Amino acid sequence: MKDKKYILGIETSCDDTSIAIIEKGNPNKVLTHITAGQEDSLRVWGGVVPEIAARNHLDKILPLLKASFEDIKLSPKDIDLIAVTSSPGLLGPLLTGVNAAKTLSLKFETPILPVHHLYAHLEAIHLTETISYPYLGLLVSGGHSLFYSVANSKDFEILGGTIDDASGEAFDKGGKLLGLGYPAGHIIDKLAKFGDPSKFEFPIGLKSSGNSQLSFSGLKTALRNFLESHPEILAKKPTQYLDKEEGSKEFYDVCASYQNAIISALMLKLRYAIKSFNEKYLSSAPPIIVVGGGVACNSHLRATLSNKYKNSFFVAPEYCSDNGAMIANYGAMNFDSKIDFPECLSLDARSRVDRGKD
Ligand code: KG4
Ligand code: ZN
Repeated sequence: MKDKKYILGIETSCDDTSIAIIEKGNPNKVLTHITAGQEDSLRVWGGVVPEIAARNHLDKILPLLKASFEDIKLSPKDIDLIAVTSSPGLLGPLLTGVNAAKTLSLKFETPILPVHHLYAHLEAIHLTETISYPYLGLLVSGGHSLFYSVANSKDFEILGGTIDDASGEAFDKGGKLLGLGYPAGHIIDKLAKFGDPSKFEFPIGLKSSGNSQLSFSGLKTALRNFLESHPEILAKKPTQYLDKEEGSKEFYDVCASYQNAIISALMLKLRYAIKSFNEKYLSSAPPIIVVGGGVACNSHLRATLSNKYKNSFFVAPEYCSDNGAMIANYGAMNFDSKIDFPECLSLDARSRVDRGKD
């Protein structure tokens, strides 16, 4: 029996087609990792169109698989486990990845592990940091914003989260109103650096609810109303997003103030999540906090949260946005739960968002 174990990770839950192959170990070692985004084709539509995204995955998945194996001179028959995102996500895109995994399994009799996308986002922390359980997970992405209590790599309990838009959605919808294209989170992040976060006041959803529920839909409406009554600010939108431009000061202030409202909401509600976490573990010490998902790249969130909570860890930026490495990593961490061939061929994809404990 060979001593090295190789895990293939396949991620297609939304608009990124991403493949990684890792060598199982302590820590797991990423051997190759390739992602093809769809931002150019989706920008025209101002967001993700599920059917177009699914067709794009179909076009890209085989070339990406081929390139990954060529990159590290391995063959699909060397793979010990295929880890594939099976939920939650857009059904068409998910099915593309799941069917690719099943096809490989059928040919090489490889076991499959169906992976929960959100758990993989947080557990990607183990690719770069040595941390122990339990931890409080803050998952902030384009589709979700959730506080989790994570007891081990399989036991995730939701402590709170958004009742409407996700934090990444708030960035993207705000970016659309600001004429910044899609996705806009990283652009707002950059432009906000030139602005004053306290210049304009935007609302924090469910500010007085006394729990860790989040709401971002009112914030987006507030921005729309603000921009309608200040058309002169939109007229000063910089033409070069990444460099400071004379005359755009108030536009930068809007970006900084809008971003500040999102981050302040996350920071406020994190306090309640910590309270629930500590009640659960009968502890009064600050817990370990892990932050993952695309919005975990945000520089203001990183600075504010790590400044306040010393025991906080952010997933490395290259593993924050959707990626195959986090899926392969989750597969390696849960290798024992693999479904062997041929049972794995009955695997299905599920689009639903989990609620409560699953
Ligand atoms: O995790 P992810 O790649 O996809 C989902 O699973 O949803 O997250 C994508 C989201 C987008 O909404 C994008 O605008 C946001 O992450 N994002 C950011 C930054 N980089 C990506 N939001 C704020 N600041 C950033 N630097
Ligand atoms: Zn994601």
